[in-house]
Amino acid sequence: MMQVNNAIIRSNENIGKDVYRMVLETSIASEVACGQFVQVQVPGFYLRRPISVSEVLDENHLVLVYKTVGEGTAALSEMKENEVVNLFGPLGTGFPVENRDVVLVGGGVGVPPLVETAKQYISNGNQVTAVLGFNTKADAILVERLKECGAKVVTASMDGSLGTKGTVMDAIKENGIEVPFVLACGPLPMLKAVASCYSCGYVSLEARMACGMGACMGCVVQDENGQAKRVCKDGPVFQIGKVVL
Ligand SMILES: Cc1cc2nc3c(=O)[nH]c(=O)nc-3n(C[C@H](O)[C@H](O)[C@H](O)COP(=O)(O)OP(=O)(O)OC[C@H]3O[C@@H](n4cnc5c(N)ncnc54)[C@H](O)[C@@H]3O)c2cc1C
Ligand code: FES
Repeated sequence: MMQVNNAIIRSNENIGKDVYRMVLETSIASEVACGQFVQVQVPGFYLRRPISVSEVLDENHLVLVYKTVGEGTAALSEMKENEVVNLFGPLGTGFPVENRDVVLVGGGVGVPPLVETAKQYISNGNQVTAVLGFNTKADAILVERLKECGAKVVTASMDGSLGTKGTVMDAIKENGIEVPFVLACGPLPMLKAVASCYSCGYVSLEARMACGMGACMGCVVQDENGQAKRVCKDGPVFQIGKVVL
């Protein structure tokens, strides 16, 4: 059940180019399903910032992995151990956890929620292949973490500095990955490419959000029948073919 909760920052480390990993102590952790997010109240900012839960470490600790793109995330990156941030969550409809092998496709800061998703599929005895795409090697995040969790990881980069030169779809082809079930999170062009190649799976969307709980209709997309769907509540995860990308 979603709740408002003060969380204590246990660590907040720089883990890549403009990317930080924050461990938070919060009772919300025990409620999180993979692919869900929290709305973070950054001190001094009126609107909360939506960030996916990357991992649940135990019933009192969760991990956020975020990139500094503007003032809110920059202020978050400057917060120190033992400071408090207010969280609202867990929010949204996450990835389904099914008993089958899966290919996880992530691009840039779409990779974080795939870590908890990989852990859940692996703990159910399934094989997980993660295909991760970045602009350059310097932007790569969570590659080693996903390997530690037991996923087979292949990478792609636009400049060829890491893995396959090109997109995640090029890496899927080059590595002969034939698993038919996909879960994807990343930029819209990547999700469109995934949805055009896979009929079976789910994509996680991003939208600018205000309330984050389904009330303001500020984050709507259209479903296959032209009906409005809220990314924050009906999503962010939608079945391929059920939402207009
Ligand atoms: C469900 C969901 C989950 C997310 N999970 C993560 C995550 O795990 N890690 C992570 O790094 N980021 C994630 N984001 C994106 C994150 O919310 C934004 O980067 C953040 O709110 C930016 O805040 P800011 O104050 O730093 O930037 P702002 O000053 O608000 O904006 C700076 C720049 O970022 C762009 N931007 C801001 N918000 C978004 C957004 N929601 N989508 C696309 N572009 C945006 C703006 O257009 C602008 O160019 C997620 C977003 C959603 C909706
Ligand atoms: S952000 Fe208000 S309905 Fe989604």
